[in-house]
Amino acid sequence: MHVACPQYRASQVAIQQAVGKRRLRKTRTSGGQRLDIMSAFLPLRLRRCTARPSPVSLVRVPFSPKLVRATYDRRAPIYDAVVQALALGRDRSYRRRALEALAARPGDRVLDAGCGTGRNFPMLAVAGVTALQGCDLSSRSLARAARRGARVAQADAEQLPYRDDTFDRVLSTYVLTSVANWRQALGELVRVLKPGGRLVVSDDRLPPGWFLGPMPMLGMLRREGWVDLHRDVKSEMEKRLRGVELRFLHLRMIYVISGEKAA
Ligand SMILES: C[S@@+](CC[C@H](N)C(=O)[O-])C[C@H]1O[C@@H](n2cnc3c(N)ncnc32)[C@H](O)[C@@H]1O
Repeated sequence: MHVACPQYRASQVAIQQAVGKRRLRKTRTSGGQRLDIMSAFLPLRLRRCTARPSPVSLVRVPFSPKLVRATYDRRAPIYDAVVQALALGRDRSYRRRALEALAARPGDRVLDAGCGTGRNFPMLAVAGVTALQGCDLSSRSLARAARRGARVAQADAEQLPYRDDTFDRVLSTYVLTSVANWRQALGELVRVLKPGGRLVVSDDRLPPGWFLGPMPMLGMLRREGWVDLHRDVKSEMEKRLRGVELRFLHLRMIYVISGEKAA
């Protein structure tokens, strides 16, 4: 895996110039492309953090849709296996908790925004959902998702191509931390939800400090500013929805937030 994204590099230059640092991280040439050695091994969300000049900086580098698309197109063939491995085989049980909060009923029209390879689809089908729509930026992920038996569309969560009040249920798992303007995306998820419909957002975060003590590597990630949006997402959902509930799973490393749009 490697990153050769001009926007990312340009944003690094802009930031480092802004703080008086002229030198980019050491790079080398690989296969005719510039390869940022650090970025090659970092997940997308952490790259955003390390692109900040210091942990206390207010400067943030938003992800471009192009970078997200390229990253997840590249990951699509291995995504399912990696997710299973990272969740130590418990991925389905975490998803089940999110789907319980969604409480989809047979006949509901459901949107899975940022559906990726469609890992939620089979479980939604078991719940009796037939009118299932997935959307994502990554066409290679969508090609896999389509094989899991739902309608899919290439679309940006920040500008969903659906009318207001279209879906009975909207689900988005492990997506908001990859979106440049997650508030805009959340607004879109609420906009396309029918009055009385339910929205569920789930994502991961670092475990609490006490757990990190013996794990210096994870502690370093926290200090580097790993993005944990759960408080912001919850308060934003409280502004737009009612009955908002937050649940933690897996040593509080995963959160599920649900809420209902006023009828
Ligand atoms: C970590 S994967 C999660 C995929 C899937 N939701 C799941 O639970 O397995 C993040 C997904 O979000 C998608 N994504 C990121 N930003 C997006 C955006 N602005 N619009 C649509 N999809 C986006 C990526 O393409 C990727 O497939």
